[in-house]
Parts: sequence; structure tokens; C-alpha cells
Amino acid sequence: MARILITSALPYINGIKHLGNLAGSMLPADVQARFQRARGHEVLLLCATDEHGTPAELAAQEAGEDVRAYCDRLHQVQKDLGARFGLSWDWFGRTSSPQNAVLTQHFAEVLEDRGLIEERVDRQLYSIDDGRFLPDRYVEGTCPICGHTPARGDQCDNCGSLLDPLDLKDPYSAISRSRNLEVRETRHLYLLQSKLAEPLRAWVDSRGDWPQLARSIAYKHLDEGLIDRGITRDLSWGVPVLRGGVPRRGMEGKVFYVWFDAPIEYIAAAQEWADATGGDWARWWRLDRGAQDVRYIEFMGKDNVAFHSVSFPATILGSGEPWKTVDTLKAFNWLNWYGGKFSTSQQRGVFMDSALEILPPDIWRWYLTAYAPEHSDSSFTFDQLVAAVNRDLADVLGNFVNRILKFCESRFNGVTPEGGEAGPLEARLKADLAERLAELTEQFEAIESRKSAQALRGIWSLGNEYLQEAAPWSAIKTDPVRAAVIVRTALNLVSLFARISAPILPFSAAAMGEAVGETQLDWPEVNGVAGVEAALTRVPAGRVVSAPPILFSKIEADQVAAWAERFGAPREVA
Ligand code: MF3
Ligand code: ZN
Repeated sequence: MARILITSALPYINGIKHLGNLAGSMLPADVQARFQRARGHEVLLLCATDEHGTPAELAAQEAGEDVRAYCDRLHQVQKDLGARFGLSWDWFGRTSSPQNAVLTQHFAEVLEDRGLIEERVDRQLYSIDDGRFLPDRYVEGTCPICGHTPARGDQCDNCGSLLDPLDLKDPYSAISRSRNLEVRETRHLYLLQSKLAEPLRAWVDSRGDWPQLARSIAYKHLDEGLIDRGITRDLSWGVPVLRGGVPRRGMEGKVFYVWFDAPIEYIAAAQEWADATGGDWARWWRLDRGAQDVRYIEFMGKDNVAFHSVSFPATILGSGEPWKTVDTLKAFNWLNWYGGKFSTSQQRGVFMDSALEILPPDIWRWYLTAYAPEHSDSSFTFDQLVAAVNRDLADVLGNFVNRILKFCESRFNGVTPEGGEAGPLEARLKADLAERLAELTEQFEAIESRKSAQALRGIWSLGNEYLQEAAPWSAIKTDPVRAAVIVRTALNLVSLFARISAPILPFSAAAMGEAVGETQLDWPEVNGVAGVEAALTRVPAGRVVSAPPILFSKIEADQVAAWAERFGAPREVA
């Protein structure tokens, strides 16, 4: 049994997440966690809300709420939505936790003691009417690169350029809209990443197990050269810059930059979990306390890779302390909305709450896994969603389960029939299954979302093909013993399908399992035909079974039209 630590990028607190956020980090992390648990491994799946920084303050202001109250509320909303989507977090923490504050301050102290943090004088926009500095998104203006207005102080949403607030043309305060701004000097702490270029490259070189997308982004940043990074801000909401528990001299009233404290929450979340449950966080995170045996997998969208392959490793490697670092960094491309962008600020696309108003979680989980934006960007459209649901889930899996259970109910009184010997059809089925199960397991191990889903669908199809050829509805008339063998085999396929579908379709898998009296949905042994043999005798003769309620209903064309209307889907796919 191995120990596997899994984290997904921490969603910003500023609102309900859209399907792109779910598809590119939270969902694949959960699927992998469920798969590894089913294989019998010990898994710790952590996530948290990313609550600091200007996005949180601005969202709270817009909602007319105190920022802490706003974060309390949205944390609960996000936590509940995650649970409704079946995200099986062992802990869903908060970057605003006391544990994270202590740990963030600890890292800053150690890094400063090791000469990796220094104080510098910065020039920043100061709003005279607001009486404060305007870091990051507190200033808006015109993008110096593409001319788009409004561009935000840290980034232009139109052309994607990363900006410094001082670059903006015609800047104004995002708080008061005042243009009465001036440039003032302010002191900040800088993390000297340039000094860590060599150890960071050596560390990335040593990561044998990073998929291509993450690896290429990491090297791009290393090749461009690492720049020293300001890690404090003139804000009041955030982790205060303390040293030894008191404000660090020269940094009174300042907080750490959100991207400095957020990834530290990966560790702090384990501490929150340990404090709440009595678990041992150090066993997962400290190499001197057992974590050398841990495999650590991170999931994120591609825009996050630089922070996880360079910035956060700079923090933890720079500390010189024995922290666990990521073994496998799985990055995703963008899920687009009809070829355009999902947008939280413009409420464009489908969001986690409205998604569940129209369809159950497993439908989304299937679609977002089978059509994940994995090796390139992909586009969400309702037409594609419907095709996937109707074809894969309703016609293939749902149909199989329903057909055999209904048949068993009507012809065998809902009791798994006994007697008879497996024949050549069953032998071929077992050989095919042995091969396909090995392939499926391999794709899950490799964290290949699309290929895992494809392999799974292939196995479901074997069930339909088997039933079609074996034709128990004919056999029952001429050779009831033969019919018994077929039905018993097919009921065992339902049990097998429940077990292998559970990582992606946890709710439907539970219903399928229940239908054939299986509650323990562990992953089947993959040792050739012997493993399959064992899997196909789990449901014994004599066991009472019953058809589950319809697993997946087909989606009709008029429903699609209504949703496209409701969500303002563009008519033309770009
Ligand atoms: N909140 C960030 C985003 O949504 C991700 C933060 S990940 C962490 O892009 F590393 F900072 F935790
Ligand atoms: Zn621009």
C-alpha cells in the first residue's frame, strides 16, 4: 500500500466556480483520488479556498460585505457545491486559517535568514482620495499593449499580458474611480528567486514524472530567467508580515502577496486536517517524518504551472528544510465556452451551481473527464454534452444495466440464477476484459483523463456486445440453463462496471452496486484472466438483485434549446 498526497489548485474565493475550473483541477484530482483509494492506497486529497489578495477584497466590496464575512460565506458555498459534485476532499481548508498564517510567516523568516529575502524600495500608485496604495487589481486603466479598457493592474484580460500597475495608461482607482493618483515610494520584501535558478532547474530535471504540458511550461520560465518577486503588499486583508510574532520592522500594516501564502496552504491544509481529525500531517509533508514514502500529485490549469514549478518550489526548497515536493504535476489546458472564454466577472458560461440545477453531477463528471481540455484547449457546447450523455451513458452503460436487471426481475424473480457452465462466449469475454482492464488501469495510473474514459467506455461496450450475442431472451425459451449462465455473468458485469466506473461516476456506480448487492466498490485485481474470473464471481447465485431507478435519461433536443437560451450560448461555434 502506497501513500498518495493529492492537491488541486485552490479556487479563488471570489464567487462560484465555472465548469472550466472544475474540469482543469478539482475534478481530475478527485477522480485520481477515488481511483487510488479504490486500489487500496492511502490517499490524502486536499483543497481550500484562496481567500487573500485584491480579488477577494473587490468581490466583498461589490457584495457590500465585510471581507471576512464574505469569505466565510463563499467558503461554505464552495464547500457545499464541491460535496454535491462528489469531490471527496479529505479536507477543504482556507488560506485565511491560523495555520497558514503561522506557516507563511515561518517560511518568510527562514528565507530571510538564509539571505533569500531582501527589503527593497518600490514605486507604486497611491490614491490620494482613497488614502492608500493601489496594488494589483485596485488600479484599472488602459492596456499599454493592446489598448483595451479596462485592463487590471496585474493583467489585461483582453490580450492576457501580465502588467505592472505603473504600466497602465490613464490609471484610476478601482475603489473610488478617482484619477487623483500619484507615484509614491513604499518598501517591500522581495524573494530572490534569481539566486535559486540553479537548484530549481536541477530539481525540475529530477522530476521524472511530469507530463509534457507542465514540463514545457516550467522550462520556458526557467529559460526566460527567474526574476526576484515582490512578496508583500500594502493591504490589510491577508497574512500580516510578522517576525517572531510581532510586526516585522519596516513592514507594519503590510501583508504577504496572495501568491506567496496560497500554495503554502497545501501544507497548512494538512495541518488543519490533522488538528481537526487527529491525523499526522508531518507524515505527508516532512521528509524527516515519513513523507519520503509519499507520492505527491498536483492538478492545475496551465496558467498556474509557473507558480507551482518555480515560485512555490523556490519557497520550500529555499527554506533548506526537508519538505516534500511535487512528484507529478498534471496541468490542463482551457475549457472554452463555445470557442470563447468562460468568465466569472462577466458571468459567462455554466457555473457549478447552475450546472446542478439542470443535470446530475455524474453527467458533468463524465463529460468533463471524457472531453477534458487535456492535450489541447477544448470547447464546451451543449450539443457535445448531449451527444456524450445520450451515446455513452444512456445508450451504452445505462441501457446495459437496465436491460439485464429488468430481465432478471421478470424471468428469474430478481434472484441471481444458479447452474450451468461458462461457454466459449464467456471465455472470449474474459480474455477481452483481461486485456481492457489492464489498459484501463494503466490509463488511470498515467492520469490520462480522456484515455481513461475511452477505455472505460470500451469495457461498457463489451457488456452490450456480450448481451447481444448471448441473447438471453432467446436462450430462456430453448435452454434455461444457458440463460442462467448469461444472466449471472451479466449481473457480475454490472458489479464490475460499478467498481471501475466509480472514480468518474461515483453516484451512479453506487446505485449500480446497490442493484446487485455490492457496496464495496474496490478496484478489480488486474492479473489476467484469473483476476477477471474473480471479478465475475463476486455476485453469487441466489443473491437478490433489483433494477435501479433510471441511471441516465436521454436529453431531448428541446431541452438543449432551452438551456442554450438560458445560458446565452452563442449560436455559432468560433
Ligand atoms: N487561486 C488560484 C487560481 O485560481 C490558484 C491558487 S493555487 C495555489 O488561479 F497554489 F496558490 F494554491
Ligand atoms: Zn491588453
